[in-house]
Amino acid sequence: MASYDVIVIGSGPGGYVCAIRCAQLGLKTACVEGRDTLGGTCLNIGCIPSKALLHASHMLHEAEHNFTSMGLMGKSPSVDWKKMLAYKDDVISQNTKGIEFLFKKNKIDWLKGWGSIPEPGKVKVGDDVHEAKNIVIATGSESSNLPGVTIDEQVVVTSTGALELPKIPKKLVVIGAGVIGLEMGSVYARLGSEVTVIEYLDQITPGMDAEVQKTFQRILKKQGLTFIMSAAVQGVEALKTKAKVSYKLRKDDSEHTMDADTVLVATGRRPYTDGLGLAELGLEVTDRGMVKTEDHWKTNIPGIYAIGDAIAGPMLAHKAEDEGMAVAETIAGQKGHVNYGVIPGVIYTHPEVASVGATEQDLKDQGRAYKTGKFSFMGNGRAKANFAGDGFVKILADAETDRILGAHLIGPMAGDLIHEICVAMEFGAAAEDLARTCHAHPTYSEAVREAALACGDGPIHS
Ligand code: NAI
Repeated sequence: MASYDVIVIGSGPGGYVCAIRCAQLGLKTACVEGRDTLGGTCLNIGCIPSKALLHASHMLHEAEHNFTSMGLMGKSPSVDWKKMLAYKDDVISQNTKGIEFLFKKNKIDWLKGWGSIPEPGKVKVGDDVHEAKNIVIATGSESSNLPGVTIDEQVVVTSTGALELPKIPKKLVVIGAGVIGLEMGSVYARLGSEVTVIEYLDQITPGMDAEVQKTFQRILKKQGLTFIMSAAVQGVEALKTKAKVSYKLRKDDSEHTMDADTVLVATGRRPYTDGLGLAELGLEVTDRGMVKTEDHWKTNIPGIYAIGDAIAGPMLAHKAEDEGMAVAETIAGQKGHVNYGVIPGVIYTHPEVASVGATEQDLKDQGRAYKTGKFSFMGNGRAKANFAGDGFVKILADAETDRILGAHLIGPMAGDLIHEICVAMEFGAAAEDLARTCHAHPTYSEAVREAALACGDGPIHS
């Protein structure tokens, strides 16, 4: 039995970042992980592998659609699926080994196995019980399923199975037009699958800026994705190598079916806290299984904290990372803080979609007077040169003070561009501050500046 200042349960972006920050602050730290590799869902079966497949399939798309226009002649590459999966696995391995190296460098003990909390101050891993002055639950989330659907990760898959399908499906049905459905749907559409997305609501990516939603759906349709909107999936019948999806159209309750080689269920995720022994411990969770936390990520039991997907808030790796750092600082007696108003959300399709802060709908609901500065990538020279003119930057600013309240982007590198707006918001900047900042030419970032100018007297290039 060993004794620690902090034991973090789970080594995803929330947990491993928390452990490193604890160690940096001089706390004796261990991290419990039952998988064979560190990094949690994000590195092993989520963010990182999906980005590898998005990158590879985007390269193919570029070769097929844009190469000849630039005078790059020749046959388009063919896809060696096994090799593409091996590339993805190599990317995972480099990243997970990187975390292992960081643990060694920071003298963090990796307690291998699945952890539970038999009593406050104790963490059990296998047959060993370790003492911990502080425990951080960072156990993440798992895919949630629909009633009437059995996941086999072969024909009916979650994002996990979608990252290692035995072959590229001829016909893929995606249930749910959220982040996972659209990222993985894009991958397979680019690789040649016929992709149909069935969505319960009448718009894609719920909660996102309405104008972005419309533009995004138009672009995805152009890329070959088919959408069946306002349709509730009732069940999936898995046959040996195929599946039949049944759904009901909400407008008239009419029932329909659709055959597929593969069905991806992407209808959300739920907190994963199985096996921790929370009920026996008396640790409070919500009816949706989220660990209840008060200020500073404290649970109802002193010395036990929780962060990331296991608690309320957006299920995003970077939100978990920020909470991981902040909780470490709190435990070390500092003032850990997360600004939940400035957490960007990104969808890594092509073009990318990114947003931060309030949407127009949020501001309307709040009755807040705001102004909108919008600039199309069609007016951006760099974007035009790179076949990336589709999309726009939209900045929302307070009508009176000009303070930036939110931003919504769809376009090239939107997931990177959003961060100058995040920094501006973090500093309480006005749109004019962005507009007066010199931006290098020719860059995509100029579109951000132009949108900021559009909040004032108007952009230059439109
Ligand atoms: P999501 O919540 O983003 O989208 C689920 C979609 O499924 C919704 O549009 C919902 O209306 C629809 N739906 C639910 N039940 C349905 C039914 N019976 N029939 C048809 N449609 C139905 O969930 P998703 O895409 O599974 O992602 C899970 C979590 O993972 C999210 O919190 C997301 O933020 C996170 N994630 C983030 C990524 C990123 O930041 N790039 C990438 C992947 C996941």
